Amino acid sequence: MALPDGFLYELKERSDISDIVSGYVNLKRRGRNLVGLCPFHSEKTPSFNLYPENGSFYCFGCGAGGDVITFIMKIENLDYIEAVKFLAQRAGMDMPENSYDDGVGKLRMRIFEANREAARFYNKKLYEPEGREGLEYFYRRGLTDNIIRRFGLGYSPKSRYALCDHLKALGFSSAELVAANLAFMSSDGRRAVDRFADRVMFPIIDLRGNVIAFGGRILTDQKPKYLNTSDTPAFKKSANLFSLNNAKNTGERTLILCEGYMDVIALNKAGFKNAVATLGTALTPEQAVLMKRYADEVVICYDADEAGQKATARAITLLRNAGLVIRVLSIPEGKDPDEFIRNKGDKGAAAFKNVLDNSGNDVEYRLQNLKTKYDTNNPEQKAGYMTEALRIVSSLDSAVEQDIYVSKLAGELNIDKASISADLQKLRRKKENEYRKRDFTRISTELSGRDDKVNTEKAKHTRAAKAEEMLIAFLVYNNDMEPQVSARITPQDFVTKFNAQLYAYVVERIHEGVSPQTTFTRDFTSDEVSKFYAILHSYNSQTATKQAMNEYIDVILEEKHKLTPEKISEMSPEEIMASLKKKKSKE
Ligand code: UTP
Ligand code: MN
Repeated sequence: MALPDGFLYELKERSDISDIVSGYVNLKRRGRNLVGLCPFHSEKTPSFNLYPENGSFYCFGCGAGGDVITFIMKIENLDYIEAVKFLAQRAGMDMPENSYDDGVGKLRMRIFEANREAARFYNKKLYEPEGREGLEYFYRRGLTDNIIRRFGLGYSPKSRYALCDHLKALGFSSAELVAANLAFMSSDGRRAVDRFADRVMFPIIDLRGNVIAFGGRILTDQKPKYLNTSDTPAFKKSANLFSLNNAKNTGERTLILCEGYMDVIALNKAGFKNAVATLGTALTPEQAVLMKRYADEVVICYDADEAGQKATARAITLLRNAGLVIRVLSIPEGKDPDEFIRNKGDKGAAAFKNVLDNSGNDVEYRLQNLKTKYDTNNPEQKAGYMTEALRIVSSLDSAVEQDIYVSKLAGELNIDKASISADLQKLRRKKENEYRKRDFTRISTELSGRDDKVNTEKAKHTRAAKAEEMLIAFLVYNNDMEPQVSARITPQDFVTKFNAQLYAYVVERIHEGVSPQTTFTRDFTSDEVSKFYAILHSYNSQTATKQAMNEYIDVILEEKHKLTPEKISEMSPEEIMASLKKKKSKE
């Protein structure tokens, strides 16, 4: 059941896009638009544009675009109906009757419910005789009942059917439990089997309080040590962080990023509630962008081993690209935060605070790390160190900061500061040229249509497709000109199918007295929505002018009736004559 036009119109009227987006992105005014760092990919210079005039956004960096509904779908990771509900609730509107959820939305709700019941079940088991080993394990690792309750920790029983039996009695089907990744089908396909058994359980909770996944740790030295929920319709591992639901409420704009569940819990116990961890994978760009929504600064607090150091280097790049200030904390004695705090007993919190306060920024960390790899007494190695060090320094945005490190290097290596500065200048210019080249390549690919996934015919018919796009944009900006345009051209005259369909939609909506943008997200896929907004924003109201309108139509008709050798071979002599005449009359 599609949502009515009138409802969508009112919803969009009441959902001010600037207001809503400002909640997620730091926006600055630029002329009539607002710009900011794109929340959908990591970037250093803002290419995310917001157009309050027509209630849309478009990122020139990654091509994401749409209206307020698209924005909420993407940023909150919701499907269409859920995003509409989210906005309706915010605007104080009731959802129209009969607008029940689609299949995916419903399944997702069932998964949330199953997970919530599972978390309750695991937690209860922890305090029953069956779960004694689990509880003792937690106690042994220094956890209290209080912290167990706060994180909703639990224990999954040894029996391979305990959870399935429990959830089935509550009305969940095997298919739902498998979709939630709480169970898998036995090899004979006859019955659902618990995925987690004889493990202590860590529920993962999203920012709206839904239980979206679990991590389960084995009590022995067996492998795998941790088992995590795989991606499900309700869970995307790469886009969530453990304990962000707690960390976002501390009122600080600093997050502590750790490797493991136990580190986060130990830090919470010691009073550092702003700790988060990834969910059994390396940090992703999506997680970096997510952190930027709640923090300006991230303290990386990975294990001191080699794997931890590698992960730190990777995290620095991602977090920096997301616009975060970074500090790197090295835990003394090669421990992870959990072991470190536990070993210090009563003084754990104070000891950690001390390390935290003394942690340097990431440039210091990287320079220190780099230096250990070179013997600076050897002139050749000294030069190598210098080159690498300057590359790190040049990644700093602030000239003042860069100057500080140039001075430091000059002193440390006993080299003239002016010559280091000159090298740095050269490096910076080289980088700028690379950026410019990359931008140029991106723009020329976009114009050529080579990478156009939605309008696959664009690469072959670039000239026609461009004129079609401009005409569509023109019509969207000038609904009143529809009769003049329709008098000259119909969708059948379009060369590329996607644009023909788009044009037909726009004309139909105008006939019905509804702006095409009101209902576009309802009627097209999200890739098509992005493409539509890309068209609107690459040909803005300045380039799509009335004077040009007739020229776009001329180009489309000309391209449509162009006689290619293939076409001529398929045409009858009469058709060829007619087509030539048509061309003549235009000249
Ligand atoms: P670690 O091996 O450092 O575990 O893995 P840990 O957090 O210190 O765990 P304890 O202290 O031994 O209990 C760090 C993180 O990597 C993921 C988990 O998210 C873990 O918290 N991991 C590790 C897995 O997903 N699977 C594994 O088999 C191991
Ligand atoms: Mn550990």
